Amino acid sequence: MRLALAGKGGAGKTTISATLARIAARAGTSVVAIDADANPNLGIALGVSPADAAAVRPVPPSLVSRRIGGAGLTEPVDEVLQRHAVLGPDGVRLVGMGAPGHADEGCLCSAHAVVSSLLEDLGSPHRFVVVDMEASPEHLSRGTIRHVDVVAMVAEPYYRSLETVRRMALLVAELPVQRLAVVANKVRSAADETAIGEFCDRHDLELAGVVPWSEEVVSADRSRVPVIEWPAAAPVIAAVAALLPTLVPDQQPETPAL
Ligand SMILES: Nc1ncnc2c1ncn2[C@@H]1O[C@H](COP(=O)(O)OP(=O)(O)OP(=O)(O)O)[C@@H](O)[C@H]1O
Ligand SMILES: [Mg+2]
Repeated sequence: MRLALAGKGGAGKTTISATLARIAARAGTSVVAIDADANPNLGIALGVSPADAAAVRPVPPSLVSRRIGGAGLTEPVDEVLQRHAVLGPDGVRLVGMGAPGHADEGCLCSAHAVVSSLLEDLGSPHRFVVVDMEASPEHLSRGTIRHVDVVAMVAEPYYRSLETVRRMALLVAELPVQRLAVVANKVRSAADETAIGEFCDRHDLELAGVVPWSEEVVSADRSRVPVIEWPAAAPVIAAVAALLPTLVPDQQPETPAL
């Protein structure tokens, strides 16, 4: 199952992606985490050492061919993973889309083609693929995530965040993605939860779960410790764990021979 997390800047996409990845891996699922942000932070959030995170070598665009109907990998995806994924805590495999190396470098077309091609070939009920997207709607306007099974829009309980969800949901609806759901994050009160619930009802969007605000998440981040390794953040970890069976109900837990 392939799940992409989208939403406004700072909504919590990376925090929730990393926590979901580690929870699924601990449950025995084969997990591939794709950092689809050109400003990559998923490695650190997963708990990959800074040296290993810095060593993530993006899949080179030479492994992608442009065909009629879209880009595609020219080699088997498991071989590509073997060569280009970094092994993180709990066995999560991390792949990056790469960051610009220089100013004035130009657009990121080939990096988007790499992510799209990987996603196409990674589909399997035995593998959980989580894609941490950047805040920009470019992954949607380019169709980079057309091959995911579910898009989760992370929403904070304030107007501009919800407005971003509304706009992005319209773009997701134009892609061949089967399911779109909203995940409320940084919820501090019943009024926050009600506001997001009413927004979802008004726009006919599914609310998949609610993750509370926690000062402990901020403390973990400040200490560069993944949320899942920060016991005082237990309420947030539990809320993210509850998202997994809701967002990817068909996920098969057993690890296949890869
Ligand atoms: N439930 C929460 N409670 C408190 N703080 C949170 C929570 N979730 C995330 N945060 C904090 O919010 C900040 C932004 O989180 P994160 O980097 O995951 O967002 P993002 O959506 O990936 O941002 P970007 O758009 O820049 O990629 C971080 O400091 C993180 O620790
Ligand atoms: Mg992020």
